[in-house]
Amino acid sequence: MSIISNDIEHAIELLTRDELVAIPTETVYGLAGNALSTNAVVKIFQTKNRPSFDPLIVHTSSLAEASKFADVSSARIQKLANALSPGPITFILPKKNNISDLVTSGHDTVGIRIPNHPLTFELLSKLPFPVAAPSANPFGFTSPTTANHVNDQLGEKLSLILDGGPSSVGLESTIVKDTKKGILVLRLGGISIETVEEVLGEKVVSVKTSSSNPTAPGMLSSHYNPGTPVLLGNIEENYKFHKGKRIAAIAFQQLPSLHFTSVEILSPNGNLNEAASNLFKALRNLGKTGADIILAEPVPDKGLGKAINDRLQRASV
Ligand code: TXA
Ligand code: MG
Repeated sequence: MSIISNDIEHAIELLTRDELVAIPTETVYGLAGNALSTNAVVKIFQTKNRPSFDPLIVHTSSLAEASKFADVSSARIQKLANALSPGPITFILPKKNNISDLVTSGHDTVGIRIPNHPLTFELLSKLPFPVAAPSANPFGFTSPTTANHVNDQLGEKLSLILDGGPSSVGLESTIVKDTKKGILVLRLGGISIETVEEVLGEKVVSVKTSSSNPTAPGMLSSHYNPGTPVLLGNIEENYKFHKGKRIAAIAFQQLPSLHFTSVEILSPNGNLNEAASNLFKALRNLGKTGADIILAEPVPDKGLGKAINDRLQRASV
């Protein structure tokens, strides 16, 4: 059983002993361990049941701190970091030797993120090492946005979940990498493409989408499984094909007047930020209702809507 508290000193004590601690961030809760300890990093992969080919993101309290572990000199990365960090963005950077191949799954790059959450900022500032932290869910399942979500799925395996309240953004970080031609977006997330382009003053060169046969880490299509099949498309149309079943539904602003066993509305007023912050909780709730199927519809494909649609897509395959 986990203790759920905001006791930073307890977290420091556990992390220093190579134990794992779930930590709050503005995107989703992370499963944190000492990024410089082989012991701790192995525990992260084991606890999540995560394949060793899927690298971890390293979290620090500042870009200056990050520069001990990665080459942060790229002008585009500096621009993005100055404008958007701390925040929901991860930079894939050339790694330094003190970051092991275990963390990066053998890649010569490391993902670096500076999360924007007061409790975790204080924790990272006090720790003498950076923490590796994937989302605190078993591999393939929906990411947690509250301490209770973590407790539901990993509580048995953890001594401490630091409770920093619900994650305000609710989607994982946007992952970017600099190349000769410009910025690649490897994962859509809590910072929109529009914002990245505005800060850069140029277009990003490519946006990867999920795939069942990924060329880049992190693009596995089968992810965010809420435990019940999700069908993405026009809800009214898809309803016809599932008559007689227990049908749950998740919609952006409103649902057609049909009979559903349970429903989730992401943002009655049509606010994509609000919809993002409610998405994972909504999927989890519906996954627990015993419905046979969850019907979902895409949200408008702009701003954070692109990342929401990416997650719905991946939850549905
Ligand atoms: O918002 C977030 O990023 C959260 C919070 C806890 O910070 N973390 C998170 O971690 O989402 P995780 O492990 O669930 O997803 C990290 C993704 C993975 O898909 C991984 O493949 C990709 O980042 N990644 C990590 N290092 C990489 C690298 N060197 N090159 C390419 N992709 C990388
Ligand atoms: Mg994850």
